[in-house]
Amino acid sequence: MPSIQREFLMIPGPTPVPDRVLAALAKHPIGHRSPDFSDILMESIAGLKWLGDTENEPLILASSGTGGMDGAIANTVNRGDKVLSLVCGVFGERFAKIAEAYGADVTRITAEFGKPIDPQAVRDALAKDTKKEIKAVTITHNETSTGVINDLETIAGIIKEHGALSLVDAVTSFGATPVPIDAWGLDIVVTGSQKALMLPPGLGFAFVSEKAWKAVESCSNPRFYLDFRKYLKSQRERTTPFTPNVSFVVALVESIKMMKEEGKDEIFKRHVGLRETLRKGVRELGLKPCVDDAHASPSITSIYPPDSTDVPAIRKALKERFRITVADGQEELKGKIFRMGHMGYVFERDIGMALYALKEVIGQPAKAKTEAVAK
Ligand SMILES: Cc1ncc(COP(=O)(O)O)c(C=O)c1O
Repeated sequence: MPSIQREFLMIPGPTPVPDRVLAALAKHPIGHRSPDFSDILMESIAGLKWLGDTENEPLILASSGTGGMDGAIANTVNRGDKVLSLVCGVFGERFAKIAEAYGADVTRITAEFGKPIDPQAVRDALAKDTKKEIKAVTITHNETSTGVINDLETIAGIIKEHGALSLVDAVTSFGATPVPIDAWGLDIVVTGSQKALMLPPGLGFAFVSEKAWKAVESCSNPRFYLDFRKYLKSQRERTTPFTPNVSFVVALVESIKMMKEEGKDEIFKRHVGLRETLRKGVRELGLKPCVDDAHASPSITSIYPPDSTDVPAIRKALKERFRITVADGQEELKGKIFRMGHMGYVFERDIGMALYALKEVIGQPAKAKTEAVAK
C-alpha cells in the first residue's frame, strides 16, 4: 500500500539526508574544470581534513566505501605481500578478501560475534613477525554487521610500533565518533558519503599518510582508475583526474558546513547520546543488545528479537505501520538479529519515535508474525 508518510531510514547507510544537503544536490551541475568547482573541491578537502583532524590529503573518489578499501589495498600491497586482517564481522572479512583478491598472503585474527578485536592478539601476532614481513594490517573501526567499535587508538599504536601500514575502514565511524587520523597515526583511512556525512551514496574517501604514500610509490600493482597518485597530483592542481561526482562534492560542502555549525565535539556527543537512549529503551522493552556496553558502537545497535516474534515480522511491521526501515542481520546473522542505524542526521527525537514504534510492534507479535508469513 503506498504511503505519503515520511520515511525514516534506520539502516546503517544510506542514512537520512538533511533538506539543506538535498537542496544543494538539486543545483544544476557546474563544469568540473571551472575555477568555481576548483574552489568547491578545495573547500571540501579542507572540511574533510578538519573532520579527521589531519594534514593527510583526503582523496575524493566517485565510488562507494568499498572503492576506497579496494584502492587502499591496490595502492600499497603487492602480490605475495603479507597482510594481517583483523576480522570481527562481515566488513573486516571484506577487507581481507580484497587483499586476497590482489594476491596478498593474508592471515586473519578473528573475534567471535559481538566481540571486538583483542589488542593483545594483535600485539602477539605482530611480535612474532620478527622479520617485519607483514606489510599492512587491515582493521574495521566500527563493525557495522555486529555493532562493535574496536579500540582503534590502541591497535593503531601497536601497528605503528611494528612498522606495518594501518589500513582503516572508518566507513561507519568517520563523522560519528572521533577518528583523529594524525594523533592516532593512521596510514590509510577510508570512508563513504552515505553514513555519518549525511549525503546519499556516491562518494568514497581515502586519507593517505606520508608513510603510506611511500608504499604507494613503490607498489607495483597494476591500477588505473583507483591509482591514488593520479588523485593526489590532480588535487594538488585543484582538480580531479576524472570527471568527479560534481553534485555530491557541492553537497558535501553543505553537509560539512552543517557539521561545523553543530561542532565536532557536539556531533560525537550526540551519537553517544543516541546509542545510550536506544540501548536503555531497548532494554526497557525487554530486548537484549548483541554487544556489551563497553564495545557498543555509537552509530549502529544490533538487537536480538524477542522469543515471541521474529526479525522479518519486526522489520515488516516497522516498515508498514511507521515507515521505519531497520536492517536485518547480514549473512549467517540474517533473521537472527536486527540492526538500528543512528548515524549522521539523527536526533534524540528520532530515537524516541523509533522506540515507540518498536514497542508497538513487539507488543503485537502474533499479528506481525502472521502478516509476515502470509506474504
Ligand atoms: C564498516 C563498513 N565498511 C565498508 C562498507 C562498505 O561500504 P559501501 O557499501 O559504501 O561500499 C560498509 C557498508 O555498510 C561498512 O559499514
